[in-house]
Amino acid sequence: MSHRIAPSIFAADFWDLGNAIRLCEKAGVDGIHYDVMDNHFVPNISFGPKTIADLCARTRLPADVHLMIDLQRGIDDYLSLPVEYITLHVESLSPQDVSLLDKIRQAGKKAGLSLKPGTSPEVLLPYLDKLELILVMTVEPGFSGQKFQEAMLPKIRQVRDMIQNRPIRLQVDGGVNRETYRQVLEAGADFLVIGSAFFADRDPEAWVSTIHQEGKA
Ligand code: DX5
Ligand code: ZN
Repeated sequence: MSHRIAPSIFAADFWDLGNAIRLCEKAGVDGIHYDVMDNHFVPNISFGPKTIADLCARTRLPADVHLMIDLQRGIDDYLSLPVEYITLHVESLSPQDVSLLDKIRQAGKKAGLSLKPGTSPEVLLPYLDKLELILVMTVEPGFSGQKFQEAMLPKIRQVRDMIQNRPIRLQVDGGVNRETYRQVLEAGADFLVIGSAFFADRDPEAWVSTIHQEGKA
């Protein structure tokens, strides 16, 4: 599978989200990453389904939704969005919520599970056959612009080994920038989320093209 790059729209300037999406399109990225925060699972609030629906209606870029929310409150509002992936946090998934993964797939989306930095990959083992994506967080979820946690590199390798030949994308999110992205790819990630570093970059188009080229090598 070729490498994918999705900017995190949460890291853009909300004054002009349309312009941020146009920048992503011009740069040649593969999708948009939407960080949903509810002030329960993480100590921050971002946006909800309406924002995602409005933006998805104006771009052909595929969407992946990273839900950092209390899953007890349900995810129905997200199931009807025209998005490719919906990713839940395994730490928020109680045993009675496991059916949420089936619900995502029944709604025609791909299902993902995400790990906070302190969560061990073994917790994913029971779910591997229900997943199209695993997201390894390389910062604590909740904020853009944090420092990449190098200590997560062995975990990315471990998840890559765990995936074996299953058709599961390995996404990495948090602190990915021009200095850190190569280590992330070398550790086995094939899907990069880039937030603040993308929107602050002097030439995102050139950077995206470099990452795509390196992915082919
Ligand atoms: C953090 C989010 C990230 C964040 C990435 O909770 O999941 O997607 O926006 O931003 P950077 O790349 O700046 O760490
Ligand atoms: Zn995210």
